[in-house]
Amino acid sequence: MAQTSAADQALIKDIASSYVRSRPWPYRRWIESIGIPIHRGYYIEDLRTVELGWWAERECNAAFLEMAGSEGISETRVTEVGPGKTLPPLKFALDEVVYVVEGRGLTSIWGPGETESKTFEWQKFSMFLIPRGHTHQFTNTQGDKPARLLHYNCLPLVMATVADPAFYFDSAHEEPGLPNVVGEDFYSPAIAAQIPDPKLAWGVRDLWFGNFFPDMRAWDKLAAMTMRGVGTRAVYVQFPGSEMAAHMSVFPARTYKKAHRHGPAFVIVIPTGDGYSIMWEEGKEKVVFPWKESSLFVPPNRWFHQHFNVGESSARYLAFHPPVQFEGWAEKVEDRVKDQIEFPDEDPFVRQKFEEELAKKGLTSLMPEQVYTDKDYQLPESPGG
Ligand SMILES: [Fe+2]
Repeated sequence: MAQTSAADQALIKDIASSYVRSRPWPYRRWIESIGIPIHRGYYIEDLRTVELGWWAERECNAAFLEMAGSEGISETRVTEVGPGKTLPPLKFALDEVVYVVEGRGLTSIWGPGETESKTFEWQKFSMFLIPRGHTHQFTNTQGDKPARLLHYNCLPLVMATVADPAFYFDSAHEEPGLPNVVGEDFYSPAIAAQIPDPKLAWGVRDLWFGNFFPDMRAWDKLAAMTMRGVGTRAVYVQFPGSEMAAHMSVFPARTYKKAHRHGPAFVIVIPTGDGYSIMWEEGKEKVVFPWKESSLFVPPNRWFHQHFNVGESSARYLAFHPPVQFEGWAEKVEDRVKDQIEFPDEDPFVRQKFEEELAKKGLTSLMPEQVYTDKDYQLPESPGG
């Protein structure tokens, strides 16, 4: 082998000293540099009480939620706006979905070079999009209590390619054709549409297009989705002009859904409900955790997960979706079968635990007996149906 020259050795030393491809990855390095709490693990029991810390530059208390299942793709962050306070304006290069955990307030938003801004009101359980390249400002309109916001975006993913935070928070780039948020339409009520979807047995998906959903806890424009549970209803949300998407599933008291699996970074928050979920990697030990209003969890990549409602009213979970290439839905029907466990095939522990949990509360299961014995049993649109 040829000897390395002194000049090459010096060059190698120089490259090694500036070589940055190392763990933790750039997004992790950045959040650790901020100095506010970073919560890790599978779930957050309550976003309303999760510990926050002072972020001087943003003039608010905040925390990063780096759940195991986010896997370096999505950012989930909590911001608290103090009573009666307005946060400093922030320009962000990425689309961001915001969900209101607690409180009431205003968002003012304006695009690059715009002199006018748009202001809209939000309340607890609102969900809205802050489109990329816009500057926004949050105001808490209540003078006696803080407001808490949950943010979802893809900063960890893109920071893996350009690590400099200024690229995202201090960019002069003006994307042509950005939506005009100042007009009447941008935050007006969502519009329903039926989009062909060959992955669904019935061929169409009911989608809602919009940037503002005033109350996800009360949202009642839902379509039957019985492929995964008795009486399950759902809404699929597409934010126009954005790769961001979400869906919410509503399922009845004293029932549970089939286990299924897909890609990482689907962040799930509970607008209302009383239940628990089980998550597991195929062949491995199961993780069981409870949820209620304002719990958050993220099933890791290709882990099965299954949701159980042990309350006396319907439960809702709202899921923010990762970019489409990470969704991990199987394209072929035969592969999709491997990603969902039918009720007759499930581990007996699943039903047993569900009935035990209900019994602790003096309740019984409303799952029809046929679901456990007949694979072809058509799941009804309501537990009694
Ligand atoms: Fe899922």
